[in-house]
Formats: sequence, C-alpha cells, structure tokens
Amino acid sequence: MRITGLGHASVLIETAAGSVLTDPWVNPAYFGSWFPFPDNSQLDWDRFGQADYLFVSHLHRDHFDPEHLRKHVSKKATVLLPEFPTTELEDALRECGFTSFVKPVSGEVVSLDGLDVMVHALTSPTDGPIGDSSLWLSDGRYRVLNQNDARPSELSIFRELGPVDGYLVQFSGAIWFPMVYELPARAKQAMGLSKRERQFDRTLRYIEELGASYVFPTAGPPCFLDEELWGFNDVFDDESNIFPDQTVYIDWLRKQGHEEARLLLPGTVTDLAEPGCPEHHPYDPSVIYASNETKTAYLRKMQARRMPEVEAARATWAHPEVDVLAALTEWFTPLLAEADHIAGGIDGGIRLTCEDADRGDVDVLIDFVERSVRPYVDEKVRYRFRTRRAYVEQLIAEHEIDWVNSLFLSCRFSAQRIGPYNEFVYVFFKCLSEERLNYAEGWFAEQNAAEASETVTLGEWEVQRRCPHLKADLTRFASIEDGVLTCQMHGWKWRLADGKCLTSVGHDLRCAPAGQPVPGAEPVVHSPADDHRGQHEMSESIDD
Ligand code: FES
Repeated sequence: MRITGLGHASVLIETAAGSVLTDPWVNPAYFGSWFPFPDNSQLDWDRFGQADYLFVSHLHRDHFDPEHLRKHVSKKATVLLPEFPTTELEDALRECGFTSFVKPVSGEVVSLDGLDVMVHALTSPTDGPIGDSSLWLSDGRYRVLNQNDARPSELSIFRELGPVDGYLVQFSGAIWFPMVYELPARAKQAMGLSKRERQFDRTLRYIEELGASYVFPTAGPPCFLDEELWGFNDVFDDESNIFPDQTVYIDWLRKQGHEEARLLLPGTVTDLAEPGCPEHHPYDPSVIYASNETKTAYLRKMQARRMPEVEAARATWAHPEVDVLAALTEWFTPLLAEADHIAGGIDGGIRLTCEDADRGDVDVLIDFVERSVRPYVDEKVRYRFRTRRAYVEQLIAEHEIDWVNSLFLSCRFSAQRIGPYNEFVYVFFKCLSEERLNYAEGWFAEQNAAEASETVTLGEWEVQRRCPHLKADLTRFASIEDGVLTCQMHGWKWRLADGKCLTSVGHDLRCAPAGQPVPGAEPVVHSPADDHRGQHEMSESIDD
C-alpha cells in the first residue's frame, strides 16, 4: 500500500483494490490567511485527481477546497461520505460535480470491491463545522487510519479491526488561541507553550494507544504569507508558537522514544510494503527545514509566488452597500429567539466592533439575554471581538453561516473575554443557519436530558466516567492533581471539591470523594487509569 503526501491533510493512498484521495487543499483559505505548507501548488494534480475514491473529512476550508475539486479531481471518483447530521458536505460536493457517493454507517466497515472502509463520524456541535471524521481502510494486507483533525474519544473501534500499519494524525495547531487575545505578551506565551505541549501530548496518547507501525504527521501546520500574519510562522525559535512544523514534531516524538514517524512533503512517496517504510522525497527536505533561515527564505519565495492570489481577492471584501447593523439584526434575531441553550450558556452580550478608519466603525451588541441585536452603548460585556468592517461585510454578502470556518480561523480579529472560555460563543457563530442552530440546540438538550449514570474511581475520587465536554473516557484521559481533574482530550479542567468546570461555562462534573455516593449516579467499580495519569497536567484554558 503506497501513501503519497500531497500537502497538509491530503494524501493519495494506492492499493490493489483502488486508490483514495483525501482532503486535497491548495487554494488559500480563511480570507487568504492560510496556505498549505510546504507549497503543494506545483504538484501534478490532474494525475492525483484520477483517484477512484475521494474522502473529504469535513468542511473546514483547509480540507474542503471546492475550486480545486472542481478543476482537478475526476468526477468519476466515488465519494466516501461521513454520516453527518446535516447534508451540507454532500450538497457542497454535489455542487462541485460529484455524483457517486457511498455513505457508510459511522463505525461500520463496508467492503468496496476488495477495499474495506470505515468512516467514523463525530457529530457534536463542537466537532468541526458540525461534523468531523476519520477514515480507516484496509486492502486485506495493510490497514491505515487517517484520523485527521478528528478527536474520537477512543481508538478501540479502530484497534479492534487489527493492527494499524499507517497512522495519519494531526499534531499542529488549527486555532486562533492564544494569538488573537488582547493579553500581555508573557501571558500569551505561557498559554501558547501549554497549548503546544498539550497538542503534542495528545498525539502521543493516541500513538501509544494505537501502536501503529508507522506514523505520518499531517493536517498542519499551515503557513501565513500575509505580512500582517507573518509572525504566526514558526521561524522565530518561539516554543510558544502553536504551529510547529513536521520536523519539530518528529524530533519531539523521537525524544519520547518513538522512531516510527515518517515525514511527508508534498510529493513524498512511502510504501507500507517496503521494509522500514522509507520516505522517497521529491527534494531534499533540508532545503526547507535545515534552519529558521532556510525556512524563512522558502516562505519568502512562496510569498512572492502566491500572495498575488490574496491581493486580488482582498479588493472584493468590502461591500459599502451593506448596512452591517441592519443586516446582522435581520439575520441573527430569529436565530437568537430559538437559541435557548446557547443563550443560557452565554448569558450576556457579545460586542462586535467592525473597524474602518475611513468609513467609521460599526459597534454591535449581540444580546443573548434580550435576544436582540442593537448598537453597542457603553455596556459591560464578557466577550468582545474586533475585526475589520470589510470582513464582516463580506460575511454578510456571502451569508456565511459559519464564522469559525471563515473569520475566526483567519486569525484576522482580536478578542477579549472576562472569565473562562465559553464554547457556546463559538457554537453560536458556527450555527448561523436555522438548520445548524436547531441541531446544536437539540444536541445540548439531549445532553442535559440523558445524564450519563456510570461513575468510576480515580484515586480518591468518584467521578462520572465520560467527560462532560465531549464524552472522552476519563479512565484514560483524566489526570488529577491538587484536587483538579484535567481531561487530556482537550485540556479542560474541573475542581473536584464541587465539580465546577474551570475551563468553560457550564459542563459541571458529577463527582464525590471515593466511598461517597455521586449525585444521580450508580458507582461502577473500575480498574485504575492508564500509566500516563498525572504526567500531562495543563494550566490554561483553551479554545479548541
Ligand atoms: S472530551 Fe474535551 S476535555 Fe474531555
């Protein structure tokens, strides 16, 4: 089984039973902020686009590139479609011209003429743009898991299918935290450091749980070619940068005793059948990765080559004809009326300042108590965003229903908040359509109604087994220190004395000292947690 790297999360997997192209992304994403790194625009995409199957894991723009799919991927390809709650991904792919779809039940293996495939879908409002997924496949001889950006709470569903030979996993940041926060540089540095350590640690847990023969670090990092975002590139010897590149991560893995990682440049060919699975690179990786200087020089050349694409688009973002306040009022007010759980979770206002030095700012308050949108007038709010008026005008003009998948991931904004991270804020901004909003509301309602009853003993505490965030198994993902439980899946924390979530509003943990009953639950005896407990404590709240 041959795996060819095509940049970022994209690979071509070739087997005797057919080939699969995953997540091809070439064009700049998120208001021209993100580019694939290293550059993959020079690849022979018409050749790679002749795959038998196409897998697009989710709708984030660094995984779903409609322009590229339209131009370079054969419409004869059969799409392996995740079982998502909405039809948005299928609709978007149909618009690109694809007509052949296979939609396996999530978590079940289907056989496609000798190629066994399982697509595992995650469907909570916080998974990608309402849905993220992983692809497992086997040609009968080798097994590959492309986990991508998805964070399944456990990997046993894949492990039970037999030893994995090739494991593709995201290791670098794909978020705006902590860079956009209006905080002192030292505080941001500490948060970035913690975030970077945590994203590496998480992959290690996955790698050790899966025990794959070879690991392919993928799905990042992007690079930032716009001068105003240049500082996000990991070329400044800054260990708090959340976008470390593949070689940094592979070196780190080696230090943890893991030699199985393989570097995929765009065009690198590996074959699981070849002893040791050596990389056959299209060029010497040291051309890029030898030092910060070589990487900077590479990025500067890439900037000269590719930034004109963004400059051309930038001229179209302002829409002076749009009345920002009126448009947001008309758009958001009906959604606010239906957003009971989200409004309860935010319980206040979000101030959105749309800045324009020439035309004047538009300062908007989205009030989740009154369920209204109105001009901001000197009120206290816990959450504030500032961005350019042109970006908001473009979001309005395009009726972009997912501002996470556009404005927020662009990192072209700044944020302030009082108190902990509040996931309801971002769920609202990614659910700006009735369909998405209702799905999210239903999901939250179900969560509240169906309280998990199982509890486990972790050290001196009895706690609910499933993480209140996204249901990770706390027997495997929890660490406890000084009366605080941290779930290593996303780094959220709870104070065990009263179960209060220290990371986000709501999401309290049901817990009690061992031997005492946990309210609303029947204790279940459970074996001690894995060896890692207590070794990966984090100290900051996070936005992913
Ligand atoms: S599942 Fe996200 S922190 Fe536990």
